[in-house]
Amino acid sequence: MEKTRDKVLLVGGAGYIGSALARELLQRGYAVRVFDRLFYGDMGIREFSERLQVVVGDMRHMPKSLLDDVRAVVNVGGLSNDPTAEFNPQANYEMNTLATETLARLCKERGVRRYLFASSCSIYDVGVHDQERDVIYDETAAVQPRAAYAVSKYEGEQRLLELADKEFCPVILRKGTVYGFSPRMRYDLVLNTFVKDAFTKGHLTIHYGGEMWRPLVDVRDVARAYIACLDADENLVRNQIFNVVHSNLRVSELALRVQSALRTKGINVEIRPDYRYHGVRSYRVNAEKINRVLGWRPTVSVEEAVIDLAEKIRAGNCVDFENPRYYNIAWLKLLEEADRIIRLTGFLLTSPNGGEVKSPRVVQPMERQAAR
Ligand SMILES: NC(=O)c1ccc[n+]([C@@H]2O[C@H](COP(=O)([O-])OP(=O)(O)OC[C@H]3O[C@@H](n4cnc5c(N)ncnc54)[C@H](O)[C@@H]3O)[C@@H](O)[C@H]2O)c1
Repeated sequence: MEKTRDKVLLVGGAGYIGSALARELLQRGYAVRVFDRLFYGDMGIREFSERLQVVVGDMRHMPKSLLDDVRAVVNVGGLSNDPTAEFNPQANYEMNTLATETLARLCKERGVRRYLFASSCSIYDVGVHDQERDVIYDETAAVQPRAAYAVSKYEGEQRLLELADKEFCPVILRKGTVYGFSPRMRYDLVLNTFVKDAFTKGHLTIHYGGEMWRPLVDVRDVARAYIACLDADENLVRNQIFNVVHSNLRVSELALRVQSALRTKGINVEIRPDYRYHGVRSYRVNAEKINRVLGWRPTVSVEEAVIDLAEKIRAGNCVDFENPRYYNIAWLKLLEEADRIIRLTGFLLTSPNGGEVKSPRVVQPMERQAAR
């Protein structure tokens, strides 16, 4: 691709991964159009927003004009974890599966050839009790996703792959659980949660004794994986699935590594197992293919990311740890609640008709129900 001229449409570009990727794309000379609902605000892209084109909207209603002058699409939008997918499975399906397919059809109509899709290694989840299936999976493995989130990602993948042809080149990136600092921060991802807990509680809680496996990868390495897929010869990536992972660790080992990395910064934390919670995911995957085909190698280890994050926090970045925006499910629940309240009167604090408030209405039982 001719980097200086190419425009990339980045759906979900204000998110945790999207904002790290937007920055990396700009650094490499791409023009970037971000399309995002800004569920979590624009913190992630504010610093360089004048260098981006930002279009605010919902991926379930994308105008065709979004693809004007666009050479490639990267879709990192939608609901991005199990709790939010389970909170509203229908919305999850609409965003992660249907909108993914609709955007691909738009691309085909408008002659946009390359489409990178943010999928997830949680597709490989086998749980913690099945010893026979507790093996390292690669992209050819037969998978049986169970949770709403993983199912929606897998179906999104399938629909994209079915649309592939000589003119349309979908590429699937199945990422492990991502870690590291991003200007749109998430503290609901396991390594980031550990570092945040070290600062706020002085101990790390490992659910289920930390027995479960997690493939993990740094957010900057993830951004570089997307760029590798954008820059690659079309024939190398068309219709390909790539696992994007630095290492597979049991959560108990991850906690130990976080503990010892923090010790080098003078921060001492305890590790406390908690066996009350049983709904744990567990899976480990092989990411050899993306290295072999595209030469992508992860560069940021768990320890480096922990130290970097601790330094960022010490410098005062994202230290309002109680802010629900850092926790996707807490924030979406608040937005839903606010939305229900606003629907009753049509506004929140600023009245839309110059301060003149309509006469009070009697709320019918059905509406009361909806407002709950
Ligand atoms: N973070 C991880 O560990 C991880 C791991 C594997 C896969 N993924 C996938 O990578 C992608 C990005 O993850 P993230 O961590 O950056 O998530 P995120 O929640 O921080 O970002 C998602 C972005 O998409 C936007 N968005 C959500 N619904 C939208 C809609 N209907 N219309 C327009 N914009 C919408 C949000 O406003 C947000 O900016 C997601 O698809 C996620 O499933 C993430």
